[in-house]
Amino acid sequence: MPIVVVNFKTYAQATGQRAVDLAKICEKVSKDTGVTVIVAVQNLDLFHVSKEVSIPVYAEHIDPVKYGANTGKDLPEAVVENGATGVLINHSEDPEELKDIEIGIRRAKDVGLQTIVCAPTAATSEAIAALGADFVAVEPPELIGGDISVSKAQPGLITDTVELVHKIDDKLPVLCGAGVKDHKDVRIAMKLGCEGILVASGVTKADDPEAALRDLIKGMES
Ligand code: G3P
Repeated sequence: MPIVVVNFKTYAQATGQRAVDLAKICEKVSKDTGVTVIVAVQNLDLFHVSKEVSIPVYAEHIDPVKYGANTGKDLPEAVVENGATGVLINHSEDPEELKDIEIGIRRAKDVGLQTIVCAPTAATSEAIAALGADFVAVEPPELIGGDISVSKAQPGLITDTVELVHKIDDKLPVLCGAGVKDHKDVRIAMKLGCEGILVASGVTKADDPEAALRDLIKGMES
């Protein structure tokens, strides 16, 4: 079952009430197409968004703290209480050391959050696969937010990642992201062995996010 993860980041078009509106669009497209669409939203928008949609809502970040005196931290239990069912870890805009990624995955598991763990390279993806992530998402940082997709510019990165990750766990789904803008980019990614994509600007900044998402999903049709 293919997966599209729409990362809302801190885009204006995907903040506050607009996060709810965009999540509803994602929900509608998911229902119409049968493709799983996950939205990763700012933690401050988790409660509101998760009350309004039935698709999975992920947090963009957790801190691996426990209940107690941790001013300013995003407690995993609180993220769950506010409606998240998963979390992005080690996004290149929120990078962590491998040891902290491991702790983050463990804390996420403690509270029942699914983990999409991002990696900039195939070797890091392999290391992450060994830590028990639920999804590995490979994204070359230099292509993020641009118009050249990972699948067109760096197909070898995707094939290497799929190969290395599947050596560790042949059932572990690999996603790819960065610069993904249309169904052609998605079709290549799927052919190279991805189970889905991680996308942000291609949907959040599109003039018509619904049409953009439907177009991406066209690339998942066999
Ligand atoms: O998390 C998704 C991401 O980093 C890719 O961003 O804007 O290139 O689709 P974008």
